[in-house]
Amino acid sequence: MRHDPHIAVAIDQGVMSITLDRAAKKNAITDAMYGAIADALDHAATDPAIRAVLLRGAGADFCAGNDISMFAASANGTEDIATSNVGPFLRALSTFPKALVAAVTGRAIGIGVTMLLHCDLVYVAEDAELATPFIDLGLVPEAASALLVPARIGHVRAFALFVLGERLSGRRAAELGIANAALPADQVADAALAAARAVALKPASAIAATKWLMRDAGAIEAALSADRDAFIRQLATPEAAAAFAAFAARKAPPA
Ligand code: COA
Repeated sequence: MRHDPHIAVAIDQGVMSITLDRAAKKNAITDAMYGAIADALDHAATDPAIRAVLLRGAGADFCAGNDISMFAASANGTEDIATSNVGPFLRALSTFPKALVAAVTGRAIGIGVTMLLHCDLVYVAEDAELATPFIDLGLVPEAASALLVPARIGHVRAFALFVLGERLSGRRAAELGIANAALPADQVADAALAAARAVALKPASAIAATKWLMRDAGAIEAALSADRDAFIRQLATPEAAAAFAAFAARKAPPA
């Protein structure tokens, strides 16, 4: 199992907690972090002592999305996102056979939102802010979210999130069925842990079968493959390069 200093893994009472632990960068996820999470999930999938996984972020914010320097490196050809750990991470997340529980406070952006669509129980802070600004970065929605978000909230709301860059409060995310509950921020971690522990006491094979029945694995796999190809194409566009440069230079993307 690969480890990374920015991914903290702990196991207690049948629950593996995976903490994005890079608060200074708002828990933006690097390639090494994706690799460490993928390996932790693969381990949890096969270890019978682990019955549920809890995903959370260190500090005030859940996750500011993919580390943008990784996108920039891919765009200028110094890294190849197609052979990065993003693929193994998404495969491990989207096929995970046990309960996945998320605790979300503060900002959740990009993959910080789209990973929630693969979770089974999601607890958010009332004042959390969820955003999927893929189009403003010249990109397309990833992680099968172009399939899963419209299925959850309808096409027009999904389009507004993706294309207008509308943000959802935690309260609104719960109303729309993206989260189970919106809570005061200081109660989110405890609520998510309690849910994970409750799930951990239930019959594992029945949970795995239920997840299999509830999710259209073939459709999700096809969507992941399609959006990966579209994402890689978009990374090579001038619009994407300009947006990454703008983030690096901390100025608004060109109109
Ligand atoms: N990739 C790389 N670094 C990131 C990052 C990301 N996705 N998000 C935040 N960071 C870094 C910032 O560069 C900054 O680093 P620095 O201290 O070395 O300058 C640090 O995290 C703190 O971010 P900052 O922007 O100063 O904090 P803020 O509170 O003003 O804003 C965000 C927080 C999350 C709203 C803002 O950082 C942001 O918009 N990030 C990009 C989100 C994004 O577009 N993600 C990709 C989606 S596909």
